[in-house]
Amino acid sequence: MATKKSGVYDAILKQINAEMYSAYLYLQFSADANAMKWNGAAAWLRAHAAEEMTHATRFYDYLIRKGVDVKFDAIEKPATGAKDLLEIFKAVYGHEIKVTAMINKIMETAVAEKDYAAIAELQWFVTEQVEEEETVRDIVDMLEKAGKSPEALLFIDSRLGSQKE
Ligand SMILES: [Fe+2]
Ligand SMILES: [Fe+2]
Repeated sequence: MATKKSGVYDAILKQINAEMYSAYLYLQFSADANAMKWNGAAAWLRAHAAEEMTHATRFYDYLIRKGVDVKFDAIEKPATGAKDLLEIFKAVYGHEIKVTAMINKIMETAVAEKDYAAIAELQWFVTEQVEEEETVRDIVDMLEKAGKSPEALLFIDSRLGSQKE
């Protein structure tokens, strides 16, 4: 059967790439945190990279179930060069804000195309982004309070290590 064409399918295909990029970005930051010897934060970021992969495959499964002929693009090189944990988590927060805007944009397309199945699928992502932003914002807030205090940073690192999402 011929592949169905729609703007929302194209947008979801691009979002799979963005979710793969998210996984790549979190994994890079995990490596960076590891190099800084923040093993708890590294474990948290590593676990979150895996979660981003599940976002990519969730969209992938949706397109396959809808009979879309999936062809992937290259994944961009992840940003790096953060100096400390606060810079890492500020970058992560900025990224999640961007992802929320992307999801909202796809939802607008789905609404314009009256694609109710896509709207239902995207609803899960809208809710997920609220949680993602909140979680990362809390970590940024904690790190800002900690400042340069080694005791506070060690406490946050160990807490992140025990959460791992
Ligand atoms: Fe995601
Ligand atoms: Fe995310």
